[in-house]
Amino acid sequence: MKRLAHISDLHFGRTDARVVAALAADLEREAPDLVVISGDLTQRARPRQFRAAKAFLDALARPYMVVPGNHDIPVYNLLARFSDPFRNYRSFIGADLNPFRDMGEVAVLGLNTARSLIVDFAEGRVNRRQMDRIRACLGRLDADVFKVVFTHHPFLPPPGKPGERLVGRARQALAALESTGVDLLLAGHLHRAYSGDVMTHHTTVARSILVAQASTATSTRLRDEPNAYNLIDIAPQHLTIHVRSWEGARFTGSLTTEWEKRGDFWHKLAEDTGLADADRRLAGRS
Ligand SMILES: [Fe+2]
Ligand SMILES: [Fe+2]
Repeated sequence: MKRLAHISDLHFGRTDARVVAALAADLEREAPDLVVISGDLTQRARPRQFRAAKAFLDALARPYMVVPGNHDIPVYNLLARFSDPFRNYRSFIGADLNPFRDMGEVAVLGLNTARSLIVDFAEGRVNRRQMDRIRACLGRLDADVFKVVFTHHPFLPPPGKPGERLVGRARQALAALESTGVDLLLAGHLHRAYSGDVMTHHTTVARSILVAQASTATSTRLRDEPNAYNLIDIAPQHLTIHVRSWEGARFTGSLTTEWEKRGDFWHKLAEDTGLADADRRLAGRS
């Protein structure tokens, strides 16, 4: 089994220090094999914000992979934004904007979907080179390798919001993801935690690709949801997504979703809320 921690939208420069410390403590306790960070490390792409993000990631003392988000591109410094939008990201976080890691039973590919042009700034985009990279990195792997792709921008809208803007060229990218047997997509940007199957929204996709969206892990800019991250356990033909949420003193389990793969399709086995567990424990005591 492999355990991934999926954290997103840290937004250093606009974080709650108690939440940052509690997140580090929770990650140390849960001991993931890999931490995946799906962009928006900073609030305004400033050097001191990147420095704080890098210090946080290095202090975790776990292997990690990162891609940038739209907030990691300077907005107001137009020269930097259009001449070299990822200069600060590269110098403080890392030079590889589309990182790949083969862990044996699990392979993980990150794609930088953040763009500086106004037309693509909000929803980002997957370009043709990145579709080739999906095929080059993942297409050669055995069918039983669990393949994960992470981006900042989402491929699946939140429940009840089918009109939410998705990453640009999602349909073409999904064709590459489908043909290479990708099982799981991780993203952020919307600051909302949910999971599902792309087949429920994209009618062009003929086999299951699961999605786990993460809320913001540490930012004070919340959208009616607490800070949270995803802890993902991957076993053969089996996936468990634990949402761990900030409850005012620490991160605790708030929702667990279990999936099983049969043939080309993932089936949801169970969904359980931490609140329901607490209620059951209380009921057991009375
Ligand atoms: Fe964000
Ligand atoms: Fe974003």
